[in-house]
Amino acid sequence: MSDMPTPTATPGIVWNDELLTRQPQMDATHREFVEHLIQVESALGQPDAVLLPRYDALVAHTVEHFAQEDRWMAALGFATQNCHAMQHTQVLAVLQDVRRQHVEAGATDMIGRLLPELMQWFENHAQAADAGLAGYMAEVGFDPATGEMARPPLLPEAADAAR
Ligand SMILES: [Fe+2]
Ligand SMILES: [Fe+2]
Repeated sequence: MSDMPTPTATPGIVWNDELLTRQPQMDATHREFVEHLIQVESALGQPDAVLLPRYDALVAHTVEHFAQEDRWMAALGFATQNCHAMQHTQVLAVLQDVRRQHVEAGATDMIGRLLPELMQWFENHAQAADAGLAGYMAEVGFDPATGEMARPPLLPEAADAAR
């Protein structure tokens, strides 16, 4: 038994295939997002010169991650301020607020406290809002490269119902 590996106290953030939405571009972005979380997690407790560039890379990636989905929703005819897009806006505001508190208020535990909550939020979001969007994209034959729908809905309300 002495050669058994010691179990780690906390498993940390890891990719989980239950997060897959089957939309290749979305899934690639989501894997990158989780990789950014892992990069920040592994810099916790290190000086700001190490931690903050990783945190800023996570935020920059998240801005584009959310903007990409918002662009797809707009192309699909979703209302601009739908609840999926609102979640993106709220989460980005939290990410920016946590950085402000870390730098300006010296709340250096905030990033560490944020990470598990952000991963938990992302698991829920990917499996609900993002999976719903990916399913609707597949249903209408949406091509992200062209913005064209091979099978557009007959009624414009269909996009709202898909949110
Ligand atoms: Fe997403
Ligand atoms: Fe999303």
